[in-house]
Amino acid sequence: MKRGQIKPVPGEIQKGEDQLGRDAYHKIKAEVHFRLIEELDLNSIDELSRDILTASIRDALQEIMAGESIPLNQRERAMLISDVMNEIAGLGPLEPLMRDDTVQDILVNGYAKVYVEKSGVLYESPIQFRDNKHLMQIIDKIVAPVGRRIDESSPMVDAKLPDGSRVNAVIPPIALDGPALSIRKFGHNPLKAENVLQNLTLTGEMIGYLKAAVRSKLNILISGGTGSGKTTLLNIFSSFIPGNERIITIEDSAELKLQQLHVVKLEARPPNIEGKGEITLTDIVKNSLRMRPDRIIVGESRGAEAMDMLQAMNTGHQGSMSTIHANSPRDALTRLEVMVSMGTAFFSEKSLRGLVAHAINIIVHLARLPDGTRRVLSISEVIGMEGDVILLQDIFTFEQRGVDNKGRICGKFNSTGIMSIFYDHMQSYGIKLDPAIFKFQKEV
Ligand SMILES: Nc1ncnc2c1ncn2[C@@H]1O[C@H](COP(=O)(O)OP(=O)(O)OP(=O)(O)O)[C@@H](O)[C@H]1O
Ligand SMILES: [Mg+2]
Repeated sequence: MKRGQIKPVPGEIQKGEDQLGRDAYHKIKAEVHFRLIEELDLNSIDELSRDILTASIRDALQEIMAGESIPLNQRERAMLISDVMNEIAGLGPLEPLMRDDTVQDILVNGYAKVYVEKSGVLYESPIQFRDNKHLMQIIDKIVAPVGRRIDESSPMVDAKLPDGSRVNAVIPPIALDGPALSIRKFGHNPLKAENVLQNLTLTGEMIGYLKAAVRSKLNILISGGTGSGKTTLLNIFSSFIPGNERIITIEDSAELKLQQLHVVKLEARPPNIEGKGEITLTDIVKNSLRMRPDRIIVGESRGAEAMDMLQAMNTGHQGSMSTIHANSPRDALTRLEVMVSMGTAFFSEKSLRGLVAHAINIIVHLARLPDGTRRVLSISEVIGMEGDVILLQDIFTFEQRGVDNKGRICGKFNSTGIMSIFYDHMQSYGIKLDPAIFKFQKEV
């Protein structure tokens, strides 16, 4: 295997290893499927129990097998029944991946290439679709129930599965090698503070500091690249908010799972097929201010809503949080400034920057490292402005040192030795933080 090539999922039957040829298998499957469609009332399939459906599939299979001379062994028979079942009552070939809790992301590049991410590492899956038409059918099945449409005139779509998983599909003519489907599965059990401590995303000292920051109502921005774990951290930080505060969460696609009782969850809405009825994040952030929130949590800052969010952070809704797509804490500030400028035409560059510097107290920056681990690379405090420049000060950092013989990245979590400028502020909230956390080192 070439270096850098994506490996197959370990422990699964690999492509080309099944006894029956792929084409023969798909032919029988299509025939069983067709016969079932003729026999069953498709509208009532949702009401049929799995047992009845399995029995009908087995009968149809039996009949077809009687007329043809294609041998199916026990395993192939079981596989065919479950495949047809998935085809009728689920997402076809994707169904086993949807049920597999160890799969976090599913990425389909045309019908014959399916990749999965498990524990942060990307693998090639043996699963395939029959052809691109089959893949298109499954995509239609995903987007139609949520009132979205995908065709040549609107070839890109975002949708959500009933379980909350986030889906994006792009089809030809935009996608050149057949439909591309990306699914970010919505973990039924999002990671908790103890999980990210255990897998060394960050250390106990850093969590202690962040807990104090959340409790003492500092405004926090979580920055990082795609899939670096921003939303996961936001969910964990939200769990530190005391239960007696009123929390409003505002998201493009509801992913957060807060444990507190007093939470209002709001979700933006794309326009419908006629292009009407869109509710933007900006609309919702504006509205949320009239709902007497104690804290506002914006799932991801992407555009004009950042202006209203920062104003809220500056005016009585301290302790608010959001995430942002960025390559460094400094980049996060720059991007936020650009977003804020989309929300208004009346402020000078300097005053916008001032607004950002004033609103954001802490930036937590994380990354997905090449070995699949997530690490908080820095926790920085915004300490003010000097002339036109926002001053940032790192409190904790991760220093990458090298790679061990198993390909795992080694390094060191450090405190920079600088005392938090919010130390007294945290104390004023009755939070006693051990000053020793600002002088620690931990090799990992
Ligand atoms: N600290 C972590 N350790 C291990 N796995 C993690 C960690 N954080 C997140 N993950 C996994 O990585 C995937 C992406 O996480 P998450 O949705 O939090 O990322 P994100 O940065 O918000 O992504 P996006 O940019 O797409 O919004 C999830 O499947 C999640 O389970
Ligand atoms: Mg996210």
